[in-house]
Amino acid sequence: MFSKVETAFQSLLNCLQSVKMYGPAHPMFEKSLDNAYIVFSDALVDRQEIVVGIIGEELAFEKEILFDLGKLLRPAILYLKERNIERLAFYRGLNKEELRLFMDFIARPKEDFKTDPQDAFSLVQVEHISVGKLKINDNKETKGSLSSGQIDLYDSSAKKIDQALNGVLNAEKIDHLALRFSLSNILENLSTQRYELLKLATMKRYDMETYMHMLNVAIFSMFFSSRLGFDKTNVLNIGMAAIFHDIGKLFISRKLLHKAGKLTEQEFSRIKSHTFLGAEIMLKYVDTMGILPVVTSFEHHLKYDSSGYPRLPLLKKQHIASEIVSICDVYDALSQRRGYKQDYSPDVVYNIMNKEKGSSFDQGLLDKFFRYMGLWPVGSVVELSDGSIALVTGQNESDIQRPIVEIVAPAEKRRSVNLLKEEINIERYLNPWKEGKEYLALGR
Ligand SMILES: [Fe+2]
Ligand SMILES: [Fe+2]
Repeated sequence: MFSKVETAFQSLLNCLQSVKMYGPAHPMFEKSLDNAYIVFSDALVDRQEIVVGIIGEELAFEKEILFDLGKLLRPAILYLKERNIERLAFYRGLNKEELRLFMDFIARPKEDFKTDPQDAFSLVQVEHISVGKLKINDNKETKGSLSSGQIDLYDSSAKKIDQALNGVLNAEKIDHLALRFSLSNILENLSTQRYELLKLATMKRYDMETYMHMLNVAIFSMFFSSRLGFDKTNVLNIGMAAIFHDIGKLFISRKLLHKAGKLTEQEFSRIKSHTFLGAEIMLKYVDTMGILPVVTSFEHHLKYDSSGYPRLPLLKKQHIASEIVSICDVYDALSQRRGYKQDYSPDVVYNIMNKEKGSSFDQGLLDKFFRYMGLWPVGSVVELSDGSIALVTGQNESDIQRPIVEIVAPAEKRRSVNLLKEEINIERYLNPWKEGKEYLALGR
């Protein structure tokens, strides 16, 4: 099943050997490069990307470890590790020149790889290959706490999003593959560490920057769509679309966006214009990112009952990607409010959104969203009916009111409790910026 991928890597490592032995100008190297290009193109016919990681001294592809290949390629694996390369990704569209530049790059002496290989490699300007460090889940961490790998992952993705948004602002080419690569890192981690990432999305709202909202909506949208059963490619496409859903807002003045008082009709229509402004901008990137970012930019304020905006002459049902993004968008926007203005606790957010069932949102879809997310998101500080204070660490899909929690105070009561199995209820929510603040640190 993985034979094409195996052959591709074998050819790549042959290439590496020949460039080391003969140098880049030799016909032997050219021959191995030709061969590598042919097998990579073949392997990329039935998949959009090939991502391999080096774990220990083994080569891993998706969830499998390629033991046999690992044995054969041990010296090459060590060679890559010495260069801080633990992860290689090749994307469809790869051409021979890019492969050559890549070989040139990894043939450099290891002293050249002191910094993050991805940073150095991005200077080479190869679009369809990325290299980097592997984000490994650290299982030694206690459940519910955040490993530094998770925080790095979130921060570096936020940085990528920031770069991409600035790229669009300056009408530059976007490094969409690096962005997709970050999202696929997140997606991979979502399957094993979903609570950790969802918790980060909850906590990181302290920073009110636009790109945090973009990243949060992308994380929620990818989480939601993968739980809905979309395959990896579609989940990533939806994640990419989610990142750009509000891109049109970057062209509307901050002053207007944050105006506290009532908006005039003119001001409101200016704000509404971020939908088609965004769609227009994303049209320029259809070649590289597809049509979905255009669709969701345009439709994310359309409602399930076809009200909302932009007003369309004909009734049009939202694309499923827009429905997903719009639920996650409203969820993040409402939850953010508790950061500065009113205190919208998770139950208030839940009630507000539930009132919109059948009008703003498809009823079944919204129910599923809260079933997967839970009512009290992971990371919430709550007071229980026995007077203790706990942090939410996991969800029970059969009853969203009764998650799994970790009692953190009083210290002698410290334990994990599945509220589904005990007669203890959540009594109230503690605001993480106020009375809940001191307990937040106890969970980390
Ligand atoms: Fe919007
Ligand atoms: Fe938004």
